[in-house]
Amino acid sequence: MQAQAIDYRAKAKKLVSQLTLEEKASLCSGGTAWSTKAIPRLGIPSIFMTDGPHGLRKAEGFDFTNSVPSTCFPTASALASSWNTALAQKMGEALGIEAQANDVQILLGPGVNMKRSPLGGRNFEYFSEDPVLAGKIAVGFINGVQSQGVGTSMKHFAANSQEFERMSNNSNVDERTLNEIYFPAFEMAVKEAQPWTVMCSYNKLNGTYASENPFLLQQMLKDKWGLQGFVVSDWGAVNERALGVDSGMHLEMPASGGLNDKKIVDAVKNGTLKESRLDEIVTDLLAITLKAKDSHKKGIVVDKTKHNELARQISSECIVLLKNESAILPIKPSVKKIAIIGDFAKNPRYQGAGSSQVRPTQILNAFDELQKLAKGTQFTFSQGYNSQGETDQAKLAEAVRIAKDADVVLVFAGLPDSYESEGFDRTNMDLPLGHNQLISAVAQVNKNSVVVLMNGAAVAMPWKNDVAAILEAYLGGQAGGGAVADVLTGKVNPSGKLSETFPERLEDTPTAIEFPSRDGQANYGEGIYIGYRYYDKKKIEPSFPFGYGLSFTTFSYSDIKANTTSAKDSEGVTISVKVKNTGKMAGKEVVQLYVHEQESEVSRPENELKHFEKVALAAGEEKTITFKLSSRDFSYYNSKTPEWTVKSGKFDVLVGGSSRDLPLKQTVFIESSKPAQLVFTRESLFKEFKRSPKTLAIYENLVQGFMGASKKPETEDEKKAALFFEIMLSDMPINKLVMLSGGKFTEENINGILSAANQK
Ligand code: BGC
Repeated sequence: MQAQAIDYRAKAKKLVSQLTLEEKASLCSGGTAWSTKAIPRLGIPSIFMTDGPHGLRKAEGFDFTNSVPSTCFPTASALASSWNTALAQKMGEALGIEAQANDVQILLGPGVNMKRSPLGGRNFEYFSEDPVLAGKIAVGFINGVQSQGVGTSMKHFAANSQEFERMSNNSNVDERTLNEIYFPAFEMAVKEAQPWTVMCSYNKLNGTYASENPFLLQQMLKDKWGLQGFVVSDWGAVNERALGVDSGMHLEMPASGGLNDKKIVDAVKNGTLKESRLDEIVTDLLAITLKAKDSHKKGIVVDKTKHNELARQISSECIVLLKNESAILPIKPSVKKIAIIGDFAKNPRYQGAGSSQVRPTQILNAFDELQKLAKGTQFTFSQGYNSQGETDQAKLAEAVRIAKDADVVLVFAGLPDSYESEGFDRTNMDLPLGHNQLISAVAQVNKNSVVVLMNGAAVAMPWKNDVAAILEAYLGGQAGGGAVADVLTGKVNPSGKLSETFPERLEDTPTAIEFPSRDGQANYGEGIYIGYRYYDKKKIEPSFPFGYGLSFTTFSYSDIKANTTSAKDSEGVTISVKVKNTGKMAGKEVVQLYVHEQESEVSRPENELKHFEKVALAAGEEKTITFKLSSRDFSYYNSKTPEWTVKSGKFDVLVGGSSRDLPLKQTVFIESSKPAQLVFTRESLFKEFKRSPKTLAIYENLVQGFMGASKKPETEDEKKAALFFEIMLSDMPINKLVMLSGGKFTEENINGILSAANQK
């Protein structure tokens, strides 16, 4: 059936008019753990939802030991490191196909929450510390899944950046921070990809549960951004159900045994919930339900081999090469003997624990895959540590023995399952002691030691300077081991860039003083300064910066050009740059564009990512990349007005290959179409009158009037005294003049001054 051509909203409206109050209320909660209720008498179908963001986890009830086998793709932190929106779309398409094959209508993902701290337990399931990167990857992902006639559930809305006490925690976040950091990925994805559903988070935001928060669900999602689909609760996130319906929370999941449906009926009957509001909610719900059911395709069979290959390809684009001294990688054909050390080489860590955990169709390990790719090379292996990450003298001695005897050593390390998961946050950024001890021991006896990391989030690397190369493979999915082998042997040239900063120490992080929360309150006191925004502002040198990643080839940047050096904000600016592959191997570069405001009226980050593009270049090839910057790219969120605001002034547009390596700069003057309207009140400070040419004369008269000076200061002493006086006055509200001027100013004078200053 042609799902697009049908007006599902009209159909839904008609159905709603035929439903009883009890039936409408019943549709507002699930029928089982994973499906909605059907109403057969009107042909209303039930739809099925299942996790998750990197693979299908379809199971009966909550028993996941038996979930259907499905392709396990790289987790979100890996996927975002590809900076490849087209690839995210491809992965989405494959997930959509697997959902269709299993009669699943809504896939519960992607997770687009911001990484406020490297310790967040679900960081592996989230894209980035930057909203533009997270938003663009989410758009690709959602478009991919939904192109297959399967809906997505973008989650967890909003300010859900910790696991600790996640069901009750209150995130205290100011409005500017929400709009600049925690909302934009959701906003971009709603506007550009229209996820069929959005999942509200467990936590409270500024005192109100997300599941009954009209500011989040109605004002932002629906009214401002235009979400057409419906909101589903995170599993068990409902608090006051009737309030939730009124606030715009459509579907409670999982089933709650009719308890909350009855509360909705009661609320309508006692007048605290309007039936017309319930009708709107059920209409939204049914419109998607009908479309989802119609979009089901029968007879889809998953080509598991093809999807495994795709998972490998995606994974290989996610790997970030962090260090490569003396170009030790890719492994040269002259290398005869390779020591592979570390249990992860044979038993890779490839996905995170919790609701996103899938049962893979197969698992590739690097140990086997390397041998297939490097035939004729001699391999030795030592386990190095056990599944808990512990080592002992015997294991270390064996590892050192084979390391001494090899041309190159590959040490596989990372975070075991028990170190990071949904449900709890990490308490430090360390690898297991056994992994660190192993790496150090091996690096001491062989200078050609390469570390391959498998982990879902930033980790500390105390041995960073002692090893020749570091490959961050993240949680690469079921084919991750193959992807690692592809990169190590040079079959694939690495092109991932970090989607999160790797700080040197936990003490350096923006939430070092308090994370996750205390007494149920998570105070987002660092405001907009998370991730690189914080490290840049504080001039802290991270271990590896946001946007960073090496390639086996090299790139050069040149010829930054702007279509104009002065523009109105509404016109925007077009920037072009040239990027060239200056090495001998084909490769891909992520061209990143950041904006810096030269003189801002509020505290702003040094640089902020606004655009990026991943570009493939043959050896010696050069391409021109063009970016269109809009008014929003120069704006900050002004919570006084409250809206996105550009202040007229100069902005530097910086382009390069990492947040800390931006060789190109073009300065543009942007003129605001809405210059800030200064409004003067009795509490306006003296200095504020100095800000506009219009009120400067008033200011001068005020100063002189207060000082009672009849002539301008002339001698050095007079000038000094006048200057001191002006400094003291500068922060004084003008209404104080009445009390402090010894009768020179009256209430009437002040009112007169204010009306003159406020004249349009
Ligand atoms: C998680 C969601 C997940 C849901 C269903 C919740 O605990 O927070 O991300 O989609 O369970 O499994």
